Amino acid sequence: MRIEGKEYRTIWFENNVVKIIDQTKLPHQFVIKELKTVTDAINAIKVMEVRGAPLIGGTAAYGLALAIQENNNQKFIKKSAEELIQSRPTAINLKWAVDRMVKKLAGINSDQILSTALNEAKEICDEDEKFCENIGINGLKIIEEIYNKKKDTVNILTHCNAGWLATINWGTATSPIYHAHKKGIPVHVWVDETRPRNQGANLTSYELNEEEITNTIIADNTGGILMQRGEVDMCIVGTDRTLSNGDVCNKIGTYLKALAAHDNNVPFYVALPSSTIDWNIKDAKDIPIEERNSEELSHVEGIDENNQIKKVLIYPNKSKAKNLAFDVTPSKYVTGLITERGITEASFDGLKKLFK
Ligand code: MRU
Repeated sequence: MRIEGKEYRTIWFENNVVKIIDQTKLPHQFVIKELKTVTDAINAIKVMEVRGAPLIGGTAAYGLALAIQENNNQKFIKKSAEELIQSRPTAINLKWAVDRMVKKLAGINSDQILSTALNEAKEICDEDEKFCENIGINGLKIIEEIYNKKKDTVNILTHCNAGWLATINWGTATSPIYHAHKKGIPVHVWVDETRPRNQGANLTSYELNEEEITNTIIADNTGGILMQRGEVDMCIVGTDRTLSNGDVCNKIGTYLKALAAHDNNVPFYVALPSSTIDWNIKDAKDIPIEERNSEELSHVEGIDENNQIKKVLIYPNKSKAKNLAFDVTPSKYVTGLITERGITEASFDGLKKLFK
């Protein structure tokens, strides 16, 4: 998608380095950063220079290729794979991508292992882009249906950033929106700010602006009243891990939005590529929920009058804060899952019909 009119993907390999858009600097500065080693890749995932389930999967895949480029030794490659998987716990795409790389590399001669790793990392990214495009084509039908009935702007609420910046291109939740916009359907997006890191305000609103899609940032608690007033036609969110029973783990606050949608008969859709499905964990209680530094709550970053990025404390300095990064929305609150293969109900049977 576009930034200042120029087409980008979120990650690419060029001149022996991996290039990423540093998302910790957005929306105030657009910085392309180079990852030269597997340690750089692990750090980029941990500090969230790259984030979003599919993108951290793609970064981990390229991270393993960087490890091989540094040191083509089996022990080092194995240790790097383990460290990459541990860099963030909740999004299943990370482990999925590393496991796929390790499987592909098994038994490959040392003179071919680097080129095989680079090809597979690119393949993982290309596939994600295609899958996200298909999610858009499938999800467009829902937006079109609402528009055909309403004959007026379709108001869509989204949470966090499940946009192209969270994937390789197109996004998951945003892909149907981009497709609707390209088709000339008038859409307006309610963007949940998404405290504490503000991925909605800083990233979703930013990328929608760049694509000239009308959007309004709202505080995370505003969605409820907008739904009661009939100002939300549908919700679309992304997911970091969807269980085979249809339970959806996503950015903290998604669950409360799903409850409000349920109470107000607003359709609540979740968009995901199949790489986000966890076929192993059966009970949502077993999903590892990331707990991040409480400083993400107590401090806020922005730019000052000299355009310098600054961090300030906003809480009483003696107060404690707890920063759980994800929650789980039970499948009963999910109207449907929008995948690269079609839309299905959030259930084992629904997912099985499409994917097994
Ligand atoms: O902590 P983040 O910013 O990595 O969380 C991202 C989300 O929760 C997204 O909604 C999810 O990864 C889906 S991305 C298409």
